[in-house]
Amino acid sequence: NTKLVKIDELHMDEAAIAEAGRVLAEGGLVAFPTETVYGLGANGLCAEAAAKIYAAKGRPSDNPLILHITSMEELYPLVSEIPPEAAALAEAFWPGPMTMVFKKTDLVPHGTTGGLDTVAVRMPEHPVARAIIRAAGVPIAAPSANTSGRPSPTKAAHVLEDMDGRIDMIVDGGEVGIGLESTIIDVSEGTATILRPGYITKAMLEQVIGPVAVDKASLGGLSPDVRPKAPGMKYRHYAPKAELTVFRGPVETACRAIEKALAEAEAAGLRAGVICTEESRDRYYAPVKKCAGSRENPETVAHNLYDVLRAFDEEQVDCIYSESFDGYALSGAIMNRLLKAAGQRVVQCGEEKEV
Ligand code: TXA
Ligand code: MG
Repeated sequence: NTKLVKIDELHMDEAAIAEAGRVLAEGGLVAFPTETVYGLGANGLCAEAAAKIYAAKGRPSDNPLILHITSMEELYPLVSEIPPEAAALAEAFWPGPMTMVFKKTDLVPHGTTGGLDTVAVRMPEHPVARAIIRAAGVPIAAPSANTSGRPSPTKAAHVLEDMDGRIDMIVDGGEVGIGLESTIIDVSEGTATILRPGYITKAMLEQVIGPVAVDKASLGGLSPDVRPKAPGMKYRHYAPKAELTVFRGPVETACRAIEKALAEAEAAGLRAGVICTEESRDRYYAPVKKCAGSRENPETVAHNLYDVLRAFDEEQVDCIYSESFDGYALSGAIMNRLLKAAGQRVVQCGEEKEV
């Protein structure tokens, strides 16, 4: 049975935090909020505990986990080398929504790293996450707390949907802030390389360490034989049950193409859904409309995207049409997830856009 406890980050219940720490220290599984998405935690130095994560999520065993820490002192025993760029990025963005991939030491079991000799490490900022990691007293391996292939959880109800009965405890700290997973940057060799775009953008990283590379497979819209450097990025992910198509191009042109597609779906007797924005919601005539947020504030789109994708699973729709979100600082992160959810099904409207 899964125990559900609520924690108010402003008045943290010390007994509940201590219990979560104890469950983790004893090899159990605890889901908890971070500022990006909810994580499913286990003792990251114990291969048997990590194995439970793979079982609970139905996750392929070659997909490595991120270790979560609360201080730089906790990093040193895990990694064999901290390049100067990594130290500078840690200084600038930790604690926060950034994960770095390092060469690992023998302390980190291959059961945590999917067999790799590198290890991904993140220092989260969320006070509940930090308190739980500190209480556990070990680095906490934590993937997103969803069933493998489903959208990552941004609130405890999502975790419950996927993990009820499969894990020991869920700590409900309310909705997360950002709503998309951390930026992953590989600093283990050569030029620092972004493996997964996130809230910390390429421009923000480059302000600190100069030019960084981008793993092409993380951009989305590419052929499936480009092999991503983050093993988890190769799987179809975040996908709603109904087929999702993303309409790209100038916003007005794309919105018109969606209106046309909705009309065609109706004529064909199909029940269609649409992912729209505050700005466009009133223009569509569709059986199901979900608003991702406002174009005035793209952070709202990042925050709501997974909730919207999950919500479609409760609707009997045959297909879903989505607007796209190019041209913002957060576009890399948002479009990476949206295109993966769409299995790369894109309708290009109007002129081709550089990505
Ligand atoms: O925001 C986040 O990063 C959340 C919260 C809970 O911290 N965690 C998260 O974990 O998104 P997960 O397991 O869902 O995604 C981890 C990604 C996967 O794509 C995995 O392949 C990649 O990180 N990864 C982990 N270790 C790696 C390594 N050593 N080398 C390359 N990629 C790695
Ligand atoms: Mg995940």
